[in-house]
Amino acid sequence: DADATLKPRAPVVTIMGHVDHGKTSLLDALRGTDVVRGEAGGITQHIGAYQIKTKGGDYITFLDTPGHEAFTEMRMRGANVTDIVILVVAADDGLMPQTVEAINHTKAAGVPMIVAITKSDKPEANPQKIRERLLEHEVIVEEMSGDVQDVEVSAKTGMGLDTLIEKILLQAELLELKANPDRAAEATVIEAKLDKGKGPLATVLVRRGTLKVGDIFVVGTQSGRVRAMLDDKGRQVKAAGPSLPVEVLGIGGVPMAGDTLTVVENEGRAREVAAYRQEKATAKRTTSAPT
Ligand code: GTP
Ligand code: NA
Ligand code: MG
Repeated sequence: DADATLKPRAPVVTIMGHVDHGKTSLLDALRGTDVVRGEAGGITQHIGAYQIKTKGGDYITFLDTPGHEAFTEMRMRGANVTDIVILVVAADDGLMPQTVEAINHTKAAGVPMIVAITKSDKPEANPQKIRERLLEHEVIVEEMSGDVQDVEVSAKTGMGLDTLIEKILLQAELLELKANPDRAAEATVIEAKLDKGKGPLATVLVRRGTLKVGDIFVVGTQSGRVRAMLDDKGRQVKAAGPSLPVEVLGIGGVPMAGDTLTVVENEGRAREVAAYRQEKATAKRTTSAPT
């Protein structure tokens, strides 16, 4: 029952793990950037979304999540929008509370996992101990005769990065990821905020179809028209196909993370759907919390 409208799409890969275990550094090494240095206290406090082009010409979309314990909801969201999870474990620190939390989110989402044992350049690195501790959480790596791939990496020396990319692409191939790019777009809000200059902004991940400048849409209880789109390097893009993360300008108000953005035929329809949803949201609030 092959659907001819479906075309291969890039895998969406979420990076998860304990605070300061090296998630953003690993992505920086893969992307050739230095996001960590721009973070307050070196702590990630939002979901970063990036797409890279591999040496072989394949594309991979990465979502970077915070490891700080306060951000459970973001990790859960990250696990739920992704195709593959990279569980980052620092080789010198081993399994920690948010490592275990990440394992649980991944299992709950039913997503395949690849373990990246990072900071492997450190003399106190002990990857074997990590593999043993993972067993206790029913994450069984190949060496322990399981089917979870693991790879020793270092963001500092670049060790293992090519192997990690290979393993991601192999896993993605097994998943046969496809989407129809030639239809009205549907996207998931990764995060949203009010920007002083640009107004309401949302980083969305396109799931199917192609989102274009000028498209009219509904997102949660908001409606809008795509005024502009920016990629992860801040460059303007006119069209965004499946698996591409973009920042969208032109939303009537700030939507909520997790909301679905759906392109509709005209502004009347967009306002109608948004108004209906607002009414429903208000009704729900008043029935569940009488004053
Ligand atoms: P949160 O997002 O705040 O949870 O942290 P994170 O997991 O993104 O870790 P981050 O990339 O901020 O790195 C934390 C610290 O570990 C920084 O001081 C990095 O320089 C260091 N670090 C990261 N990767 C490596 C590595 O491969 N080797 C060594 N030696 N240090 C690393
Ligand atoms: Na950090
Ligand atoms: Mg980080």
